[in-house]
Amino acid sequence: MVDNSTGSDHGEVVIVAIDDLDEILARAVRRALEGTNARLGTGGDEKASHVVTTITTGAVDEALSDVRRRFGGDIVVVGVIAVPDPTLWKRAERAGYDVVVTRGSVSPILRRLLSRPRDASQQRLLPLLDVGEVAGRVGHLADVDVPALGVVSLWRVDGRLLCTGLCTHQGVSLSRSEIDGTTVACPAHGSRFDLVTGERLRGPADSALACYSVTEANGRIHLVRPLS
Ligand code: FES
Repeated sequence: MVDNSTGSDHGEVVIVAIDDLDEILARAVRRALEGTNARLGTGGDEKASHVVTTITTGAVDEALSDVRRRFGGDIVVVGVIAVPDPTLWKRAERAGYDVVVTRGSVSPILRRLLSRPRDASQQRLLPLLDVGEVAGRVGHLADVDVPALGVVSLWRVDGRLLCTGLCTHQGVSLSRSEIDGTTVACPAHGSRFDLVTGERLRGPADSALACYSVTEANGRIHLVRPLS
């Protein structure tokens, strides 16, 4: 559902859409827009830059894909979580919800989002881990399940933070692999890959390892994905 109202603290008019919100949440969104240049979309041809939607248990990645398909891949998606279940919260963040909020925080957090210029980097950061969880560790740090992408492996090698997919032979995790420099050997059948470039150095795997961009920000390690 797309609805209507007024409002940004910075020149440009921002259009906010609401999607499947109950009346209490819809009121919270309208409250956030009061006194700003932002307004609630009318459901016409205008393209919203932000959408507020609810997150329910189940396939959060599919729900998010549906929102992005309907509203556009670069829209800022604010997901409202009914029960602050930490597992669901993390899964929603890793799926790519730009902000996850509780029902009570919708208004102040949306207002804060609207007061900031939009990030023009054309990138989306998906939080994988708190830096503290892997502080001081080297080699394989963790395997993390990222909705819509699958399990990825985080590494710290030669002081660099790296992220790869699973072995391309039979999808085995490389977590128990031996590492020599930046070369990793799959423990299952011995395929070798370069962790920096993903290059396949020895079979039986016949394709390169997927490599993903990662960065540390605000005490967390994030997967960097293009807006899409
Ligand atoms: S699963 Fe890795 S080499 Fe077979």
